[in-house]
Amino acid sequence: MKVTVIGGGGRVGACAAFALQCGGVVSEIQLIDANAAMAEGEALDLLHGAALTSDQKIYAGDYAQAADSDIFLITAGSRRKPDESRLDLVNRNVSIFMQILADIKAAGMKQSAIIFVVSNPVDILTHLAARDSGLPWRQVMGLGTMLDTSRFSSLIADELNQAPTQVKALLLGEHGDSMVPIWSSASINGLPLAGLPQWNQGLQNRRFDRTKGSGAEVISRKGGAGWAVAIAIREVIHAIALDQKRLLPVSSLQQGAYGVRDICLSVPTVVGRGGAEEHVEI
Ligand code: 2OP
Repeated sequence: MKVTVIGGGGRVGACAAFALQCGGVVSEIQLIDANAAMAEGEALDLLHGAALTSDQKIYAGDYAQAADSDIFLITAGSRRKPDESRLDLVNRNVSIFMQILADIKAAGMKQSAIIFVVSNPVDILTHLAARDSGLPWRQVMGLGTMLDTSRFSSLIADELNQAPTQVKALLLGEHGDSMVPIWSSASINGLPLAGLPQWNQGLQNRRFDRTKGSGAEVISRKGGAGWAVAIAIREVIHAIALDQKRLLPVSSLQQGAYGVRDICLSVPTVVGRGGAEEHVEI
């Protein structure tokens, strides 16, 4: 499976390419960036580690070379400042995003191609791609609250001093200020988190508030996310590549589940080779 990372010269795109290289599932990774030298530099740096990671083709290229991509991963766009919301990026990033969609369409893409959006505001940009890409809605997805869910679970585990891979705490809705914690399903190795002796309302509020602010917190310290967003991207791309049918909180054009239609946000979604294959009403 070939993934083309549009924005591959930037932090999120390069970290995502590295996560896919270490994951060893996809067979080809192409980087595209407005800063072609950065894309070439990241591709070369990744290539240098190929002998110790996996047998993939990794290179920088243009849209014509990307026409055979199975997944177009779009990470390109301006980053917000710590005091901005992701929605504040809409004026800056929509024009960049629409040009990327136009360039992808002009170069041509497979009928089975999937557009996977990470750039912010991700739910709005995913909606634009669903509207304008010409692909069926299932083949247009956004990272949605996948990263938020990882942050939420990891921060809860950190405070409880528990094994992070055993903590499952889900966030749904907008990848933004209105994201919603699903406390009823928060668990540790299948047991209710609320049943832990040290669990209390204060901890619950503290962890949710910190999760919601995590994007801005990372931006204020290091300029922008990279590693965790890359891992979240890898989880979704592997679910597609391996046709895993995993139930993931990714963004796609809603078709009526939970009474929501015609906007993009994250609900429990079956992810497989077809993309956002099914919205599941729990
Ligand atoms: C974040 O929350 C990049 O929106 C992403 O860091």
